Amino acid sequence: MKVLVIGGGGREHAICWKLSQSRSVDKIYCCPGNAGIAQIAECINVNQNDFKALLDFVKYEWIDLTIVGPEDPLSRGIVDLFEREGRKILGPTKAAARLESSKVFCKDLLRSHGIPSAEYKVFTSYLHAEEHVRLKGTPIVIKADGLAAGKGVFVASTVEEAYDALRIIMKEKAFGAAGERVIVEECLQGEEASYMAFTDGRTIVPMVSSQDHKRIFDGDKGLNTGGMGAYSPAPVITPEIEKIVMEKILEPTLKALRSEGIVYKGILYAGLMIHEGRPSVLEYNCRLGDPETQPVLSRLKTDFMEIAMAIAEERLSDIRIEWKPDPAVCVVVSSEGYPGKYRKGDVITGIEEADKLDSVQVFHSGTAFSDNKIVTAGGRVLGVTATGPDIASARAGAYNAIQRIYFEGMHFRKDIADRALKSRVLS
Ligand SMILES: Nc1ncnc2c1ncn2[C@@H]1O[C@H](COP(=O)(O)OP(=O)(O)O)[C@@H](O)[C@H]1O
Ligand SMILES: [Mg+2]
Repeated sequence: MKVLVIGGGGREHAICWKLSQSRSVDKIYCCPGNAGIAQIAECINVNQNDFKALLDFVKYEWIDLTIVGPEDPLSRGIVDLFEREGRKILGPTKAAARLESSKVFCKDLLRSHGIPSAEYKVFTSYLHAEEHVRLKGTPIVIKADGLAAGKGVFVASTVEEAYDALRIIMKEKAFGAAGERVIVEECLQGEEASYMAFTDGRTIVPMVSSQDHKRIFDGDKGLNTGGMGAYSPAPVITPEIEKIVMEKILEPTLKALRSEGIVYKGILYAGLMIHEGRPSVLEYNCRLGDPETQPVLSRLKTDFMEIAMAIAEERLSDIRIEWKPDPAVCVVVSSEGYPGKYRKGDVITGIEEADKLDSVQVFHSGTAFSDNKIVTAGGRVLGVTATGPDIASARAGAYNAIQRIYFEGMHFRKDIADRALKSRVLS
């Protein structure tokens, strides 16, 4: 079979890598891909936002399945178009993707169906929002309604910070229409974890848990990023919590969507806050996480193509999904300056050497070819991923592999998975 993967980051490299191991996959195309993906897939030069052109390509090349990596094409209805044209595609429709593309839609759905999540109020008027912040006090969370590339949420510890956030979203309109509505939300305490699941709308099969590291510097300091590393499993998600997440959160969410006439197919990703054994939903994403996908798919035993086809054909209950017990750790290597303005075009050495190490996989994010050399081409450049018999050895494997890699200005956190090690010692 032939597959088209949409996207060009570390997540999509992990997807292509997993597909390349499938018995039933003969050919992988990726749009736009990157220098790592180009070694296992044919990268195509079609405008990622031109769904018609992508559809024409799929028809012309007789592609059996399209897999969508990022949220943007999903929220703009790529699945609706492909399904109308009778083409198999992995991902939710535009209506279902609103779970991620509108935080107000998500919060309203959760509240009206009694699914645990923070208290909140929605505002369109700056003055009313400000008044509510004054009434509630701090800490408090301010969120733009729509997609804001991970920049639309502000956790304010002072009233001034909260007013600033409201001003940026509502007056300066930093996120355009995505900030027309604002959520003022109760600040939850606890530990965060990511919980992703496969679903065909009826059956829901969880993946192994994971945890990512959002801030640029060690000790969770500095600016928020797309994610600087992740590990799986997340010890904070115990079997008891897993059961609560499935029964009180994921299954009721699918049911709630169905009651509104929406069948959710694809990947459902719950961002959770866990406090004293109780999980609440911080947000939903409608696709795989980046970088969580890199360690999570590294642990997948079952053929990914088989799972993807079963979802697209709504027969997920027919297959068994198995995972390797070995934990995995992914450390992201970023360009100097990221998440601000960053360097580009630096030659990267040592990738092959690192990749050759046992149980190590180097996933590319922002890389490109220049004069037959691999160069940096994005803020996040590589996701160096290793598996091992326990989290400590997986972590050591990833950091050992990074030692072989070099480019001017490279940066990575030195404390990825430290928390998992600590909680292991405590428990
Ligand atoms: N109610 C909340 N209480 C405490 N922290 C929160 C809350 N909502 C969001 N956060 C923090 O802000 C981050 C981003 O929020 P999230 O809702 O995941 O939005 P997005 O990923 O779209 O930026 C979360 O990972 C979490 O650290
Ligand atoms: Mg989030």
